[in-house]
Amino acid sequence: MEQADFILSEYGKSSSVPSPVNRMMAAFAADFRSDTDINLGVGYVNEGTIPRELILEALQEVLGCPEKYKQALNYGGPHGSSNLINSIRKLHSENKSWGLTEKILDSKEIIIGPSGATSLLEGIAHVLKPGIVITPDPMYYIYCNYLERMGFEVLTVPEDAQGIRTDLVQEKLEKLAARKQSLSFFYIVTVNNPTGSILSDERRAELVRIVAELSQGLGRKIPLVFDKAYEDLIHDPTVKPPRSSLTYDTQGLAFELGTLSKILSPALRIGYMIGSDSEFMRALVQKTSDVGFSAPLITQEIASYMLDHHISRQINYVNHGYRKKATSVQQWLDEQLGNYLQDCSGGKAGFYFYLTFSDTLTTEDSPFFHYLARTTGNPAIDGPPDNKHPRVIYVPGEFCVHPQGDLVEKGKRQLRLSYGFEDLERIEKAVVLMRQAAQYAASS
Ligand SMILES: Cc1ncc(COP(=O)(O)O)c(C=O)c1O
Repeated sequence: MEQADFILSEYGKSSSVPSPVNRMMAAFAADFRSDTDINLGVGYVNEGTIPRELILEALQEVLGCPEKYKQALNYGGPHGSSNLINSIRKLHSENKSWGLTEKILDSKEIIIGPSGATSLLEGIAHVLKPGIVITPDPMYYIYCNYLERMGFEVLTVPEDAQGIRTDLVQEKLEKLAARKQSLSFFYIVTVNNPTGSILSDERRAELVRIVAELSQGLGRKIPLVFDKAYEDLIHDPTVKPPRSSLTYDTQGLAFELGTLSKILSPALRIGYMIGSDSEFMRALVQKTSDVGFSAPLITQEIASYMLDHHISRQINYVNHGYRKKATSVQQWLDEQLGNYLQDCSGGKAGFYFYLTFSDTLTTEDSPFFHYLARTTGNPAIDGPPDNKHPRVIYVPGEFCVHPQGDLVEKGKRQLRLSYGFEDLERIEKAVVLMRQAAQYAASS
């Protein structure tokens, strides 16, 4: 008798097919030649920013001082290491531009996720009832894709240089009419991935106001989650450092997510959330216990040591490096692609530029993409099958805009370029290849 396959949950079924970006990246990675091909697609941090020596020192100090770092190689508790929580609290009280007073910090809890900010994002999708999630467009596609597989409806709202457009948030809320009852939460990336747009203080305050009013009208609290993954990486000195959204929130609706991945090392897997004690926070703590009891205690203690002893120099060092890269890449983009571009955002924080071409399509089936992937079918362009010319990978905008959102057509002319991982010489080469690809696309 023919056997039916394993019975999966709805989430299992939708996850058994790789997401479009994962499929594209896997295809590229399968025969990636690290000395020839150039990867401007991955969101990896630059290896040179990871403080290897200091992490070695931290490990020795942690294991050498069991009085302070108790049982660092044992299981930890689900809230997180108290050393690390204290270090994160200190970091927030010392950064005066965030405006977090002792009074505000005393009224908040800090929890550590089991595996980076990603695990807290996952937890949020697990403990909140599925419904509508409001987020900026272009969107953080990794999380939005996950939310949809978990049964949420992602409702994107276009952004501009100041972040999500709050006038359009209001408009979309009005259009929802009775469906407002199905709102689950707001997910706002403060330095947006992919665009690098930095959410202004005015918009932060406005979002808090809108969500407070909405919660009042619905008679229940709507969580407003700010993902600050790149906020420690604002390296453009002309940008005014933003205030913490928690300073505007009097009702315990705002939550801030942070990560040490970008300023220390992604492999430590340290992400945290700050917000008011609530059923929501307590459920996230239980979730941490359920998936692994705690983040590895040893990496929490290493992170605590690093925050206590080296963090301000380390943040300056990381930002100095990304600033230098952003300035060079901006210049090459202007020189090589200026004639082809309608808009270019990013380069002020984190490590992305987001390009909008005037006419050139960037989709996976476009001549531009084929030129850079060396799949045009023309050997003069692609090179011999066993020794292809250098390939360049980027994230096409079609994956960054919501497929049912307002930016679908524009997204086909956009791309995200990461200057985090590759070194400058290779990025320059990639930008030259992009100009050739745009020329090729114009003539085909
Ligand atoms: C917007 C955003 N949030 C969260 C994360 C993940 O952070 P973590 O490494 O702490 O899981 C990333 C990583 O690239 C990100 O871009």
